[in-house]
Amino acid sequence: MSRHGLFLTFEGLDGCGKTTQMRLLAARLRQAGEDVIETVEPGGTRIGGDIRRILLDPANGNMGSTAEMLLYFAARAQNVDEIVNPATAAGSIVISDRWTDSTWAYQGFGRALGVELVRRLDEIACRGRKPDLTLWVDIDLETSLNRAKSRNASVEANDTRMDEQSRAFYEQVLEGYRRLAAEEPRRVIRVDGRGSVEEVFERVWAAFEEYRSGDV
Ligand code: TMP
Repeated sequence: MSRHGLFLTFEGLDGCGKTTQMRLLAARLRQAGEDVIETVEPGGTRIGGDIRRILLDPANGNMGSTAEMLLYFAARAQNVDEIVNPATAAGSIVISDRWTDSTWAYQGFGRALGVELVRRLDEIACRGRKPDLTLWVDIDLETSLNRAKSRNASVEANDTRMDEQSRAFYEQVLEGYRRLAAEEPRRVIRVDGRGSVEEVFERVWAAFEEYRSGDV
């Protein structure tokens, strides 16, 4: 059992496979007897779910970048209070599908709002709560765009606003993740997202175990 709570996050381009990997990690940890709580950004809480619908609704195509960024942080602030802080305080492992690093990559780089603003808003919304370990599932842009396209053909129309961005936008998002991993190499671990689900999960598990072995 864990001696203290842990806060893990998964990051990456749309269609990188992080949600599948996160579920596999949660299942493996539960098998090992850990208490695992999964959450998602935006979403995770009821209020966050309502905010998610506003953010991803294609009818909100005229949403300004600043409003967009503040809504992501509003959902996150609620997630901190309702899920992340209480669960880690109780000794659970919280795993979040995306966190502030997504805002760094998508709004800071993709929307070119700048990383300084993201840092400042993170301080306000998360009040010092940072992931202990972030696994960035890295796939190339081509794969991401193709997967997002086929996903769009199959999902409900109201979950797609962020998938409708241009290629240049996603190039910047990817650059954001690269810069993040370079700036915070201890926290943000790049996992090669190529290959089968099982192959990628071996890398995810290895990265987690390496973190765990150094986490005393
Ligand atoms: P998801 O499909 O991984 O659940 O993410 C929803 C979309 O929201 C995805 O295109 C990434 C985007 N997003 C941001 O732009 N900024 C953020 O802070 C977060 C959490 C997600």
